[in-house]
This record gives sequence, C-alpha cells and structure tokens, in this order.
Amino acid sequence: MIEALATRSLLPKALKALRVESGEKVTGDAEQGASWVAKSTETGFSAQEGALPAAPKTWNIAYIMGISSFFKSVMDGGKVDVARRYEILREAVSGTMSDFNKVRDRETEQIVGLKVLDKKKTEQLEMRFRGLNKPTEGEIAVQFNHPRIVKTLNHGLTTKGEQFLVMEFLEGPGLNSLIIGRSKLLDGNRLTLMREAAEALQAVHEAGFIHRDVCPRNFVCSPDATSLKLIDFGLTVPASKEFMQPGIRTGTPNYMAPEVVRRKHTDHRLDIFAFGVSMYEMFTFELPWQRGSGDGLAAMSHGQSEPTPLEHFCPNIHPTLSKAISQCMLPDLQKRMQTMKQFLAMIANVKSEEVAPTAGN
Ligand SMILES: Nc1ncnc2c1ncn2[C@@H]1O[C@H](COP(=O)(O)OP(=O)(O)O)[C@@H](O)[C@H]1O
Ligand SMILES: [Mg+2]
Repeated sequence: MIEALATRSLLPKALKALRVESGEKVTGDAEQGASWVAKSTETGFSAQEGALPAAPKTWNIAYIMGISSFFKSVMDGGKVDVARRYEILREAVSGTMSDFNKVRDRETEQIVGLKVLDKKKTEQLEMRFRGLNKPTEGEIAVQFNHPRIVKTLNHGLTTKGEQFLVMEFLEGPGLNSLIIGRSKLLDGNRLTLMREAAEALQAVHEAGFIHRDVCPRNFVCSPDATSLKLIDFGLTVPASKEFMQPGIRTGTPNYMAPEVVRRKHTDHRLDIFAFGVSMYEMFTFELPWQRGSGDGLAAMSHGQSEPTPLEHFCPNIHPTLSKAISQCMLPDLQKRMQTMKQFLAMIANVKSEEVAPTAGN
C-alpha cells in the first residue's frame, strides 16, 4: 500500500520522459531535463571552458609537451584533435554518456583508453550543478592514484569541444559481463574482488567524493578475474552540502538507494547501498529487488521489502559476508553500514567466500 502510494505520487513527475534501460544510468528527470536543454543553449560550452586550469608557466609546459605539439595545441586553443593524435585499435564501446576506445597514442606510442564524453548529455548533467563549480569528470578522475582505481593520465577538450579522458587501458571483462554469463571465473575470487571494490570505494570517499554510479559495469576485472578496478567518474560529485541536496537523482536505477529514488538528502552512503546491491548480484547472479524493465520504476521498490537472503542462492556463503552485504543494503541510513572502512573491518578475518557445507547440506 505504502509502496503503491509512493509510486503513484512520485512516478509521473520523475520518470515519465526518461528512457532508461535497466542497466542504464539516469542523469536527470523529465522537467529538469527540458530546462537544462534550454539553458545549455544559452550558455553554450563556456562553463566547461571556464573550468579549465589557468595556463601555467609557458616554457615549462612547452618543455613537458614537446615544443612542436605545444605550438600545435596553442594554435587550436589548447584543444586536442583526438582523431589525429590517437589511432583507434578496437571498435568503440558505447557507454551511457560516452564513447570509449582502445587507442595508440601516436606521440608516445602508448596503448591507452580514450573516453570521449557525449557533449549534449554532459552539458545536461553539468547544467544541473551550474553555479556550484562542479569539477569535471577529468578533473576528479585524474586525482586518484590508487591500485584499485583506473589511472587517468590526461584530460581536456577535443577540437569539437567534447571532454575527453586518457586512461590506462584495462584488458579484462566488466564485472557485469561475468555476472550476466554466470562465469565460473568468479568462483573462489569473490572475496578478493569484494575487498578490492570496497578499498576503491573507501579511497573515493576518503578523498571527499561520492561516486554515484557504483554498479558491476563500473568495475573492470583482470582477464582471470582475480582483481578489479573501479572506473567511471562521470556522475561523481564532491561530498559537500550543495551536492548532497535532496532531488539529485542520478545513478543506475537497479543500484539506486531508496533515499536517491525518493529525492531525500544523500551522502556517501548511497554508494554503500549500490555497492551492497552489486556484491549481492556478484554472489547470487540475481538482483535483490525486481529488475527494472526500462523505465526506472523498479527502483521505487528498493528498501520496501527485505531481499531474498543470499543463503537462498548460495547456501554455503560465509555468514559474515552475507551479513556485511545485507547491512549495506538497509534502507534505514542509521542502520546501514556507515563506511567502507567499517565494511572492510567486518570482513577482515574472513578467509574464503564459502564455509564447508554442514552435514546434510
Ligand atoms: N580504462 C578502461 N579500460 C578498458 N575499458 C574501459 C575503460 N574505461 C571504460 N571502459 C569501457 O567503456 C565503457 C564506458 O566507460 P565508462 O567510463 O563507464 O562511461 P559511461 O559514463 O559512459 O558509462 C565501460 O563500461 C567499459 O566497458
Ligand atoms: Mg559506466
């Protein structure tokens, strides 16, 4: 009943015009979407250009970049002609907000990952935070130097005015594809992968950010699935008051915390919820709540009922892991796992993902 009422009152407003595939992220809602577009035409791209760092000492830059590429980049206003500089080695993966390619840097011969953001979608997202001086994805991503977080090497604007990021290229599968394929590679590796994911998220939170798009698709595993790295700072915001206002409803619906869906005040604990859902899925190959059908509707049910216990799908799961994951998904913010540090401490003494089956199992 409560669920039905909440659904009826909030839904039309929020989800009407969003065409969201179940795995796809949402960056805004219908009415605001419309106003963003209008406003973004007014302001063009100036907000992002204004956010570029002030030019440091000319000759230092010229030295670092190499004289010829420095003058080339000055000629086109500091923007990079990515098609000229990077040779595409593998067909693009289209993300929800960007295109990603494995490329060869013609200047350095390095094999790297090139992410070029969709200009319109990025403008819409950034309009939402206009006046707040939100750092760009590149400015945030480049700050991380952590073994469990993808290394961003460079970022800037293309000659077409799109934001781009150059990253280390990660060879392995996304955690999402291992889950979809019910991969045997996960067996025996889940505990390590979960610890690493938790460490990555802890680093993000301790650096003062909320990732806002924690989901299996944003963890890339090594080819043998023995380790992983967190990617995609496309929706990341600083964990400061103005970015935690109620109403900012971005993220991937199947992993969205109830306080996000219901437009309440949010903080880093929304990532802890999404982490819990992701880990539940990694262990069980199921989602704790009904899978979204494409409109984001299913996210309204998050926290309305208790998910099926992990033990139902994994009878031998270590009870401490099951308890820790479930605690991440509690709808009540006071009862939910408070920090990733607390999560890691809770599972610190666990040695394997399963306990030996008891007699009769
Ligand atoms: N550094 C990387 N190495 C390998 N693949 C990557 C890397 N970064 C992104 N990808 C691939 O590109 C996809 C889209 O990138 P992502 O940063 O998640 O963008 P989006 O915001 O569009 O979701 C990812 O799901 C992943 O498949
Ligand atoms: Mg992504």
